[in-house]
Amino acid sequence: MTITLRAAVAADAHAVASIWYGGWGDGHFGNVPDELVEIRTKESFWDRVPAKIPDTTVALVGDEVAGFVMVVADEVEQVYVSGEHRGSGVADALLADAARQVKENGHDQAWLAVAAGNARARRFYERAGWTENGAFDYPAVTDDGPIPVACHRYVRKV
Ligand SMILES: CC(C)(COP(=O)(O)OP(=O)(O)OC[C@H]1O[C@@H](n2cnc3c(N)ncnc32)[C@H](O)[C@@H]1OP(=O)(O)O)[C@@H](O)C(=O)NCCC(=O)NCCS
Repeated sequence: MTITLRAAVAADAHAVASIWYGGWGDGHFGNVPDELVEIRTKESFWDRVPAKIPDTTVALVGDEVAGFVMVVADEVEQVYVSGEHRGSGVADALLADAARQVKENGHDQAWLAVAAGNARARRFYERAGWTENGAFDYPAVTDDGPIPVACHRYVRKV
C-alpha cells in the first residue's frame, strides 16, 4: 500500500469533513463536555473545514483520502485517519509530516492536545515518540466562545 501526502485543496473539503466527523466521536464521546458534543453537529464539521484547508495535509491511499493532519505554527491541531485505514501506517506518516512542518515553521518543539480519555490516540502518540507533558484545559473553539476540555499536552522535539 503506497501512502502519498500532499497539501489539501478545496476539492478535498468533503473527504476531510467526512473523516473528521467520523472520527471525532471515537476520540471524544464520553471524553468531552456534553455541551461541546451538542455543538459539534455533523454540519459543523462541513462548516469548519473550508477555512482550515490551508492548514491541512491529506494522506492518500490510491486516490482516496485516508486521513489528514492540521498544523498551525508549532501545534498539531488535528490528526485523523478514516476507520478502514487505522493500524496501517497512515497515521504515522501524517504525524511525521506534521513534525516536519512544525520544524519548517521555525520551531524546535511540536505540541498537541489530546482528550484525557482518548486512550487510542494517547498510545499512538507515545509509540511515535511523543512525551506526555501534563494535564490542562484546552479551550475548544465554538461560535459561543471557548469550552474547556480536560486534555493532556504532548510534546516532541522536531
Ligand atoms: C488517533 C489515530 C490517528 C491513531 O491512528 P491509528 O492508525 O489508529 O494508530 P494505531 O493503529 O497505531 O493505534 C494506536 C494504538 O492504539 C491501540 N489500539 C488499537 N485499537 C484500539 C482501541 N479500540 N482502543 C484503544 N487502543 C487501541 C493500538 O494497539 C496502538 O497501540 P500500541 O502501539 O501500543 O499497539 C486514529 O485512531 C484516529 O483517527 N482516531 C480518531 C480521531 C482521534 O482521536 N484523533 C486524535 C485527536 S487528538
